[in-house]
Amino acid sequence: MNVRANSIFRTKSVEQSIADTEEPEHALKKSLSALDLTVFGVGVVIGTGIFVLTGQVARNNAGPAVALAFVLSGIVCALAALCYAEFASTVPVAGSAYTFSFATLGELPAWIIGWDLVLELALGCAVVSVGWSGYIRSLMDNVGWHLPTALAGSTDTDTHFDLLAFLLVLVLTAILVGGAKLSARVTSVVVAIKVTVVLIVIVVGTFFIVGDNYTPFIPDAVPTPATESDLKAPLIQLIFGYTPTDFGVMGIFTAAAVVFFAFIGFDIVATAAEETKNPQRDVPRGILGSLAICTVLYVAVSVVVTGMEKYSKLSVDAPLADAFKDTGHPFWAGLISFGAAIGLTAVCMILLLGQTRVFFAMSRDGLLPRFFSHVHPHFRTPYRSTMLLGGLIALVAGFTSISELAELVNIGTLFAFIVVAIGVVMLRRSRPDLPRSFRTPLVPWVPALSVLATLWLMLNLPAETWLRFLLWMVLGFVIYFAYGHGHSRMRQQDAQ
Ligand code: ALA
Repeated sequence: MNVRANSIFRTKSVEQSIADTEEPEHALKKSLSALDLTVFGVGVVIGTGIFVLTGQVARNNAGPAVALAFVLSGIVCALAALCYAEFASTVPVAGSAYTFSFATLGELPAWIIGWDLVLELALGCAVVSVGWSGYIRSLMDNVGWHLPTALAGSTDTDTHFDLLAFLLVLVLTAILVGGAKLSARVTSVVVAIKVTVVLIVIVVGTFFIVGDNYTPFIPDAVPTPATESDLKAPLIQLIFGYTPTDFGVMGIFTAAAVVFFAFIGFDIVATAAEETKNPQRDVPRGILGSLAICTVLYVAVSVVVTGMEKYSKLSVDAPLADAFKDTGHPFWAGLISFGAAIGLTAVCMILLLGQTRVFFAMSRDGLLPRFFSHVHPHFRTPYRSTMLLGGLIALVAGFTSISELAELVNIGTLFAFIVVAIGVVMLRRSRPDLPRSFRTPLVPWVPALSVLATLWLMLNLPAETWLRFLLWMVLGFVIYFAYGHGHSRMRQQDAQ
């Protein structure tokens, strides 16, 4: 066995990554176009972030300046999107940042990223399904139907089983096992409904704006309640020894780190590269297109909603609908709730799809048992990993509450952004010869700026989120050295 075979930094060549996708028993069907990908992107991006977190951060962290938080977060994402677009056009293989890291940084970094994406996508899916369940219950309440408390999900103080979230994930799992084409068709209808609802909020809501609600636009900083432990403060405030505060300029950054959840998903477009007809051209279009559309909509929605209702009165569960209800427009409120519930279904489904594709790629490389990368002879989908993960996510969704999970999802995704930005620069150096139909502008400056901006957002997340993230990563290391390192396909090929 040679040194390279043992190395945790052995890389997998881009050519090898692409060749693997052509093995018949591990090949996915290529059926998606640029439009499918943009719909797919918008389908996952607009979700719990804008429908739920907007009200929460306006009320707790930023006031009407939540619109600025969306702008800041959008800038961080745009920098990362320019890097993602280059790598997806160069390495159009399932698995997104995972596959890319394997081609650039080596096996251990790739494993870390794959493990990190599992966190992003699986927990993201659980978060959204719980949000969906809340909207459905609120609609059921309108017509007088109530679930028994024991099956109606957790609150801040009590833990109950969330039957609706659990069932949603199981049903979506079954749909995904049936094939990507069916999912794309269902997704596009749902996305149309969701975008219509967001446009209703913007257009109709504009008529109900009261100028006074914008004053103060950036509320004065106030110390965070003493009852909260220090670990709940943003890491940056602890590092520099500030008294942790809400609102003020720091509050806008805290808000940006939280509403970042609303942008998660454009990166997931890259996970579908292998199922795209012309990935080199269409994946960059899908990534940048969906991000641009969503940023404009988010800023508009947050300006309108904080103009309709004083930020301190916004609801934290269903702020978009409740802003209409509280200003005396229940019809619009009902319509928005209904559309939001449908929209969240698509988000959940796409997160689940991205998740199974990353798992599929890791298994195909032998870092997880190969058993999971077998595709179904008829549906051409990785049905084993889809069913296993769907089942686990359904359980997590059934037993957990939203808020802290969302921050954990954010830190995981931001971490992947950093790795991708570094990977773009490294691949330019190590493989300048590869065809790149999309090139990140001003390399290495744009990737470097992307790393700094991403790190800044991460530092604005609570210290306890950093601790949880580290724990997850330690678990990943243990699994890698216990299984993946020894079973890696690269290791076995090198050893022959
Ligand atoms: N961006 C997605 C959402 O807001 C994950 O729900």
